[in-house]
Amino acid sequence: TTPRAPRIDGHTLLAGVIGWPVAHSRSPLMHNFWLEKCGVNGAYVPLPVRPGQFETAVRGLQAAGFRGVNVTIPHKESAYGIVDRLDRSAERSGSVNTLVFADDGRIEGYSTDGDGFVANVEAHGIPVHGGCALLLGAGGAARAIAASLLDRGVKVIIANRTRARAEALAASLAGITVIDWARAGEVLAECTLLVNTTSIGMEGAGNAAFPLDLGQADRALVVCDIVYVPRQTALLVQAQAHGLRCVDGLGMLIHQAGLGFRKWFGVTAPIGPDVEALLDADL
Ligand code: ATR
Repeated sequence: TTPRAPRIDGHTLLAGVIGWPVAHSRSPLMHNFWLEKCGVNGAYVPLPVRPGQFETAVRGLQAAGFRGVNVTIPHKESAYGIVDRLDRSAERSGSVNTLVFADDGRIEGYSTDGDGFVANVEAHGIPVHGGCALLLGAGGAARAIAASLLDRGVKVIIANRTRARAEALAASLAGITVIDWARAGEVLAECTLLVNTTSIGMEGAGNAAFPLDLGQADRALVVCDIVYVPRQTALLVQAQAHGLRCVDGLGMLIHQAGLGFRKWFGVTAPIGPDVEALLDADL
């Protein structure tokens, strides 16, 4: 079928992504694909906003009738500060990546990373409930994922190169155990989930090694990477060689986007292999 130009009119629901730079963002591709697929009269645009201009831009978009926006680097901290209502997901993860301009004029802030991560794992047919997860890394993504896992009764162990950062994270979310980076492999046998949230394996990030050998893992261990360029990270390749189940990072990107889509456009995102293929072709 020939693609049709979107019909933009007085009823078009508007959303977008604020970042600087933002041209590389895959969010417009996904959201506009879903809008067309669902037959929703909406549009999702990249919004390049310079540092220092975040609040001006947000107030302007709100005044202009946008439903909301995604927020990415370098504005995530400003986003946390601008919201009138912090959703539990934002409070627990300490970050905001999704703003909803509510009908009562307030700005609601959500973090969709942790729940997007869990939704993706569950979409692979792996229930996330109970058990124990070893998280590598202690940055923003680790905190969001830890919060969502803890909410589902999963025991969380964190190993980070800089131990103090892991300790700080553990101090802000009850229920986390910290282990030395070099000793991460020692708890592998008791874990059901291994999650890499570090930039190890990311294209252009050098080739640092993981402090663990997957040979020590339980056969039921599920190995997840949130890095999605490349999709097949060194960790996932190693996991496959050991016959372990793998979940790559692209699905998390898709599922966290789906959570925002639902909030702005009122429709469940039709997540399927088609959107994955669309993104894959664009990586
Ligand atoms: P994000 O917010 O996306 O999670 P971040 O805050 O920059 O990103 O965190 C990056 C994570 O990758 C950190 O846990 C970092 O470890 P440090 O806290 O010690 O810096 C981890 N990381 C990055 N490069 C690494 C490397 N070469 N070896 C081990 N860990 C690394």
